[in-house]
Amino acid sequence: MTARIVGTGSYVPEKIVTNEDLAGIVDTSDEWIRTRSGIRSRHLATDMGTSEIAVQAALRALEMADVDVLELDCILVATSTPEKHFPSCACEVQGAIGAKNAVAFDISAACSGFVFAMSTMDAFMKSGIYQTGLVIGADVLSKVIDWKDRGTCVLFGDGAGAAVVRAEEIGVIGFSMGADGSRGDVLSCLSRSTGNFLTSTEPQMGYMSMNGQEVFKFAVKKVPECICQVLQENHINIEDVKYFMLHQANVRILEAAAKRLGQPLEKFPIDIEKYGNTSGASIAILLDEWNRKGMLTRGDKLVLAGFGAGLTWGALLLEW
Ligand code: UT7
Repeated sequence: MTARIVGTGSYVPEKIVTNEDLAGIVDTSDEWIRTRSGIRSRHLATDMGTSEIAVQAALRALEMADVDVLELDCILVATSTPEKHFPSCACEVQGAIGAKNAVAFDISAACSGFVFAMSTMDAFMKSGIYQTGLVIGADVLSKVIDWKDRGTCVLFGDGAGAAVVRAEEIGVIGFSMGADGSRGDVLSCLSRSTGNFLTSTEPQMGYMSMNGQEVFKFAVKKVPECICQVLQENHINIEDVKYFMLHQANVRILEAAAKRLGQPLEKFPIDIEKYGNTSGASIAILLDEWNRKGMLTRGDKLVLAGFGAGLTWGALLLEW
């Protein structure tokens, strides 16, 4: 058995913030943001938390899959911006949708999170442990961004994407994941802390910090490498892949990955112009968009690939 996606859903908050809006806050311009990243606007959560947007994406995926919540036996949420240290975002989703038969927990792998969570769900299904799962990628990075730092604040957006999966004969073919914890400082965000024993109890807010060029170089090397690895290990010819659904961080990263893989850019769906980098949600939102547009046909081979803080990276090969 393997994990087969039988329904997808996504949700982005209502508020749209354009590049022009941001040019009124930090020293930047629409032209810089568009040409350096491909982003034109992003949706930001003003009155919703991570679990609330995750729930909206989940309900849409469940509706498409026509799966009753009581059938779910496992819920995984990939997020690096949960509202609480505990309970997990996955438990909050489980409670909100009433999936009382499902175990629920979060997976923290930043922008690789959805690929890591899908791979984990697949491993559970291959080993016969769970039969009906919900995999969600949800992030609200706007809450951990320093809105005075033009190097990061223009790049990110908020959103959630979800997939309902069932243990079936056809679905995930294989995956490849990796991590390099020695390079964690390239992209990091401190958690809230109340200080050490008997010292300061004032909550400190951690902001995201990023060395953009280092992340860029890492991504254009690692993403093609892990895609080639998963294809080779599963004896699939790269020409037979219909779409490479990559984490939406920068159009230039997608272009560089396509070039390195020797594949046309048309095989790399792009929606970053509308949403910015939604971290763990981006691949799931893209998948839902392409699914709802009717671009995916049973039998298509797809590669989902993510990269991000950790550093982490991963590629998942599946048959639709
Ligand atoms: O999910 C994974 C998370 N992160 C990523 O994937 C990020 C990967 N990296 C990138 O996407 C790119 O490196 C960036 C978009 C972050 C930056 O593009 P870049 O071409 O690497 O620009 P840069 O960092 O070399 O900066 C070029 C210039 C600098 O000015 P000087 O030193 O040349 O005078 C920056 O200070 O652009 C300046 N700059 C800006 N200017 C206007 C940096 N941010 C901005 C801004 N608006 N928002």
